[in-house]
Amino acid sequence: MSENIANLEEQFNRRIANGETIEPKDWMPEKYRKQLMRLISQHAHSEIIGMLPEGNWITRAPTLRRKLALLAKVQDEAGHGHYLYSSAETLGISREEMYDQLLQGKAKYSSIFNYPTLTWADMGMIGWLVDGAAIINQTTMAKCSYGPYSRALLRICKEENFHKKQGMEIIATLIASGLKGKEMVQESLNRFWWPTLMMFGPHDTNSPNSAEMMKWKIKLKSNDELRQRFIDMTVEQALEWGLTIPDPKLKFNGKIRSWETGEIDWEEFNRVINGNGPCNHERMGARRTAHENGSWVREAARAYEEKQRLRNISAA
Ligand code: 3HC
Repeated sequence: MSENIANLEEQFNRRIANGETIEPKDWMPEKYRKQLMRLISQHAHSEIIGMLPEGNWITRAPTLRRKLALLAKVQDEAGHGHYLYSSAETLGISREEMYDQLLQGKAKYSSIFNYPTLTWADMGMIGWLVDGAAIINQTTMAKCSYGPYSRALLRICKEENFHKKQGMEIIATLIASGLKGKEMVQESLNRFWWPTLMMFGPHDTNSPNSAEMMKWKIKLKSNDELRQRFIDMTVEQALEWGLTIPDPKLKFNGKIRSWETGEIDWEEFNRVINGNGPCNHERMGARRTAHENGSWVREAARAYEEKQRLRNISAA
């Protein structure tokens, strides 16, 4: 490493240690840039793919009010994808490159969206569990060291809070509607509980990226710490509703808000993140079709840009 780079790296580490925010034009180690591109683009892809399982229920929402709320929620997710792609672009990667990585299966997106949404209760469950898990992770990362990502997360978290509440309201309404409604919620919880715990990633001891990301304050809490925080909060909400967490090993460990669980099925996790979950092929197929169907928009935008460029040249 040249002396100059070593000095820059030392200054950078000092800024991180002082809690300063790193902005796009600041010097940063190449690996910091690469980690952020990976993280933010995966997050952006998750928002866009995450529109599919809920989009599936827009035409079947039980009332007009529910349809409007679900439509707004799915549109919010598209907005989150756009802020996040813009935020990753500040690191020197184009949106087209990120889309290509996703469509070629080189970039990941959250495992949770590879599970099907089979009943209306799943719309409540996604709001309560999936958005709830995302909030726990993202409110922490909203204090991360990279300015454009932390600012995007601040706004995203506000909207995710609304998503979580609308999900909880769907669940509360189903439960209040009587036994059939409660059974529907329980059946949905049975399917979504473990996949939601997988959203937080592998155990800390098996997480290859965590140490480096924590050193640079991209991540502020580890996968296991955040998962535990989610479990402690959510188990109590489930009990309050009279629901059963589908984990025979679940145990209150005697401290306030502290629950021990059984082990996640890591084979299933690895299958899903490597492209072989219940809906991976369907989700990627839908994304590829949407991309192909949008090609005329990209062509029109390019033609317009070229026309403007020629006009500017002739005006100069
Ligand atoms: N789904 C898919 N891939 C996962 C995963 C999951 N649940 N958990 C881990 N992985 C992948 C990692 O991306 C990494 O793969 P890579 O090296 O090929 O990129 C590998 O498994 C090893 O995991 P690590 O723990 O080392 O990875 P990270 O340190 O990046 O931590 C993470 C994983 C906690 C998911 C982290 O990436 C993260 O916090 N991401 C930002 C938030 C995010 O992406 N959230 C998506 C949730 S859904 C959402 O927000 C939509 C909303 O509408 C609900």
